[in-house]
Amino acid sequence: HRIWAVIPAAGIGQRAVAHSTAAATTQPPLPKQYHRLLGRSLLAHTLHAFAQVPTICHTVVVIAPDDTVFASQTEHAFARTQAWPVGGASRAASVRNGLAVLATHYQAQPEDWVLVHDAARCLITPEWIERLIQACQNDAIGGLLALPLPDTLKEEQPRSASSGLDEGGKPARVAQTVPRSGKWLAHTPQMFRLGLLQAALDGNNLPSITDEASAIELAGHAPQLVPSSAQNFKVTYPEDFALAEAVLRARNE
Ligand code: CTP
Ligand code: MG
Repeated sequence: HRIWAVIPAAGIGQRAVAHSTAAATTQPPLPKQYHRLLGRSLLAHTLHAFAQVPTICHTVVVIAPDDTVFASQTEHAFARTQAWPVGGASRAASVRNGLAVLATHYQAQPEDWVLVHDAARCLITPEWIERLIQACQNDAIGGLLALPLPDTLKEEQPRSASSGLDEGGKPARVAQTVPRSGKWLAHTPQMFRLGLLQAALDGNNLPSITDEASAIELAGHAPQLVPSSAQNFKVTYPEDFALAEAVLRARNE
């Protein structure tokens, strides 16, 4: 069975916008996947890693229907890689649309494997992608890269929506410490059979599904947890750009 990849890259990166920037301009901010790290966009770093894995036959990049950046920059051109302007209202909707492109335009089969990977996890390496493929390609269900929780985990006391993190609100207080052993953070890529994943996403409340594995779990299956690296974090907040760039610079030394 063939192995495909879908890269959702149709988000607006709301949490990555610095508040000072948002106030200073009326232009919509550049989505985070197009920010540059060491002279190349996050998305180009991500696609470069996938293009270096020869067992992946093709990568579908899901971009927003009104995206003008992808096609304007030659750094996004890679072999066996094509962008489709079929981004949806949620990450899961973008993934669902990317899977449909594979089935419709590439004749991908239900038993084929598909790796789904966030464009914003731009520190992914070919070695980690291959580790996931190795672990999953003989598995009945498939699985995901995930990181055993490094920190002690606290659950907060219930509080009203108006308090909490807003300035002047009441601080959060610990209700209890949740044992961290046996707890994992879900990373990507996540690797499942195309048909199983399509069926799992179908009919679910897509905005509530934040990764592929949770849809597979709702369908009654238990994905495999494959050890990831802390460096495979998702660029989410403004301070993450400098962190990601520092990792890339260290790798080049
Ligand atoms: N994504 C997508 N379609 C959406 C929303 C997200 O393809 N409707 C993609 C993003 O481009 C990103 C990945 O899904 O590569 C992970 O999502 P996230 O980190 O949440 O990115 P954004 O949704 O863009 O950021 P935010 O939630 O802060 O707005
Ligand atoms: Mg998001």
